[in-house]
Amino acid sequence: MAKLMKDIEVPSDAPKEILFEKHVQFINEYGKDEDNFEYGMTDYLRLSGMYWGLTALELINAQPSQCKDNIIDYVKKCQDTNSGGISACTGHDPHILHTLCGIQILAMYDRVDAIDVEGVVKYVKSLQQPDGSFSGDKWGEIDLRFSFCSVMTLSLLNRLDAIDLEKAIEYVEKCKNFDEGFGSRPQSESHAGLIFCGVGFLSLVNRLDIINRDSLAWWLCERQLPSGGLCGRPEKLPDVCYSWWVLSSLAMLGRLHWVDGDSLKTFILACQDAEIGGFTDRPGNVPDPFHTIFGLAALSLLGEKHIQQVNPTYCMPQSVIERLGLKPQILT
Ligand code: FPP
Ligand code: ZN
Repeated sequence: MAKLMKDIEVPSDAPKEILFEKHVQFINEYGKDEDNFEYGMTDYLRLSGMYWGLTALELINAQPSQCKDNIIDYVKKCQDTNSGGISACTGHDPHILHTLCGIQILAMYDRVDAIDVEGVVKYVKSLQQPDGSFSGDKWGEIDLRFSFCSVMTLSLLNRLDAIDLEKAIEYVEKCKNFDEGFGSRPQSESHAGLIFCGVGFLSLVNRLDIINRDSLAWWLCERQLPSGGLCGRPEKLPDVCYSWWVLSSLAMLGRLHWVDGDSLKTFILACQDAEIGGFTDRPGNVPDPFHTIFGLAALSLLGEKHIQQVNPTYCMPQSVIERLGLKPQILT
């Protein structure tokens, strides 16, 4: 019987080296033109986009074209004076996803002092529910991603004491499935993106003992396809961002060597756009900053020496995590 497996073929003429200069150009050009249609259509993820682009530049030791004071000022303008939360762009409602990105940018530039930190702490605290879960914003959607982002925000601010951590851990444990993977809520299908959130959360609070690491690492390494790329769930196509969600989870579990690094690297390199720079999800598609940061960060985990070491829990330069004195749990 034929054994079906969804995959792609890596084109033989695809890039085989890292196109550093092209990536710097791509990120610095991206979203520069405020009158551009795409710029207007991506308001809702502006701050996340800034975190992806600025972290990517930092990892490849490049400078943003915008002055850092302007960047810090923009994050400041996105903080809502009432709730304390940070929004994707000025005039939008605050959300935990962008609150985390704002704090990651400020922490990277050592300028957390530029905003009202107590306001952020108050905001994160306001999102916690009686069962320990977190909503993304005042409108009440609950997701494991928000537990992870809330705890990471507080950890970067050294304020994990502000929430009921035991309840938060209890909820995350409920999102763990029979296969040791995590879904977005209790009883939801295991998904590599959510596994990153679950493992990342437990790494932040030093509770990786909750996971049977080899069972989960086996599920994760089975996501590697013959092309070398990683997918997010069984029967899905490979995608560069899963090089990060899967590989960083394996790194936290001390099982990075369970994937074939050489063929994964070939796949990731093939996802670069040789003309305009940036990484795509799969070879031949359109590049974007989201796949660019996760492509570069995954190459860093694979030991690429011209890329700064990335921390697998925070997806930020290891040097920043050390400067902040943070010690997420990483199993060896
Ligand atoms: C795939 O989503 C990815 C996820 C569900 C992970 C999301 C993770 C975060 C928001 C935390 C980010 C934090 C850091 C530090 C990087 P998708 O909707 O694209 O899934 P699909 O591929 O199944 O469509
Ligand atoms: Zn993707």
